[in-house]
Amino acid sequence: MDVSPQEFRDVQTLVRTLCGLILTDDKTYLVRTRLESVVQAHKCATFAEYLGRLQQSNANAMRDELVEALTTGETSFNRDGHLFEEFRQRMLPAIAETIRRRREALYPVPVARIWSAGCSTGQEPYSLAMAIHDFITSNPQSGLRVEQLPILATDVSARSLNTAKVGRYTERELDRGVPPEQRQKYFHREHEFWVVNDELKRSIDFRRMNFVEPVNHLGPFEVIFCRNVLIYFDAATRQRLCTQFHSLLAPGGLLVLGAAESLYGLNTPFVSEAIGGTTVYRKPGGIL
Ligand SMILES: C[S@@+](CC[C@H](N)C(=O)[O-])C[C@H]1O[C@@H](n2cnc3c(N)ncnc32)[C@H](O)[C@@H]1O
Repeated sequence: MDVSPQEFRDVQTLVRTLCGLILTDDKTYLVRTRLESVVQAHKCATFAEYLGRLQQSNANAMRDELVEALTTGETSFNRDGHLFEEFRQRMLPAIAETIRRRREALYPVPVARIWSAGCSTGQEPYSLAMAIHDFITSNPQSGLRVEQLPILATDVSARSLNTAKVGRYTERELDRGVPPEQRQKYFHREHEFWVVNDELKRSIDFRRMNFVEPVNHLGPFEVIFCRNVLIYFDAATRQRLCTQFHSLLAPGGLLVLGAAESLYGLNTPFVSEAIGGTTVYRKPGGIL
């Protein structure tokens, strides 16, 4: 399939507008390889015809499909395992303490919300939910209930979210990060697949959300996990999002980025902190 330099620039502009994704100039191959079958499926004779169809006002589904084809959903259960260990060992006890104080201060509903922002096919929020369930089981004296730690999980990709909601994974996907005890406790077999148990699914609210749109109606959150997402955006989008994340966090709340990501070069009031082998970003104040 031929994609001219001008057509590539048109795709760059379009995906940047649609989802903030920056396609660098060396990504022509990606456009060609990922969109070839899409162009064929729409029976377009040329890439120019496909682009023309994308611009039409009733082409929302086609534009969603373009975003899905060009974004990367790479993920796995308990990705960067040491981080989940820290979540269990340090963040959850601190959150339990926050909830206890809120209860004492007679908060009407003492909860602590967690957001998996850019959750892809669900492995990240399910890993968080498993850690929460494990924590509650092994710390009955905390008096915590799962409902007090609700997880919001969002992504721009309807297809990924659908997989996440169904919660059905292959053996190979489970092999990438789910230890035997979690497999036994939180999944059951359906033919060749492993399906997340309803109890775990109930802890998570999956919603479609695009970061190019404002997110400031959400929150407050105790922890925002936005891992391996910001790398695809330009500095202006990263700055805007991190400023919004900051305002959505409760005082003392944490922003957790991917292992290779940082807030370097951005102007935010976050204070960086090393938790285990990971740098996390704290909103000053509070007790978390
Ligand atoms: C590489 S995955 C990261 C998944 C998970 N956070 C992890 O670290 O394993 C990046 C996710 O960001 C999502 N994404 C990309 N652009 C987005 C946008 N504008 N709004 C919301 N999600 C977006 C993609 O659909 C994809 O699922």
